[in-house]
Amino acid sequence: MTELVGTEIPWDHLRSEARRMADRAYAPYSDFSVGAAAFTTSGRTVRGCNVENASYGVTLCAECGLISDLVAEGAGRLLAIVVVSGSGEHCTPCGRCRQLLLEHSTESALIDSPDGPHEVADLLPGHFDAERLESG
Ligand code: THU
Repeated sequence: MTELVGTEIPWDHLRSEARRMADRAYAPYSDFSVGAAAFTTSGRTVRGCNVENASYGVTLCAECGLISDLVAEGAGRLLAIVVVSGSGEHCTPCGRCRQLLLEHSTESALIDSPDGPHEVADLLPGHFDAERLESG
């Protein structure tokens, strides 16, 4: 697969796709909708929204859906990520989703924030990864 490096990131497109995804969320219990969209090394956009459940702990975060879309579509790795709530505000990923996003991001991947894009790697310093499994 051809990998895109140093490509212009379509931030406006990602922001509007993330908002569109938040409108699709199934969040009747928390009433807190979340939408996520990301641009990948294959040049594709992948998406997700949160899906809650009457058994609250079963809830899927928007980022879980996004990673599932990425892997199912064989879309490569994440280059740029946007996560927003239903009101259109940036939503900072929960701890579990930081771990998920990192495993599928490029080393220099970016995530949008109120003060502009930041490195995804900064979301979870010292995170657990596959290399550490080898030292067990
Ligand atoms: N949520 C996400 O979708 N992503 C996050 O990173 C934080 C939380 C969802 C889960 C739940 O449906 C709602 O937001 C309230 O926690």
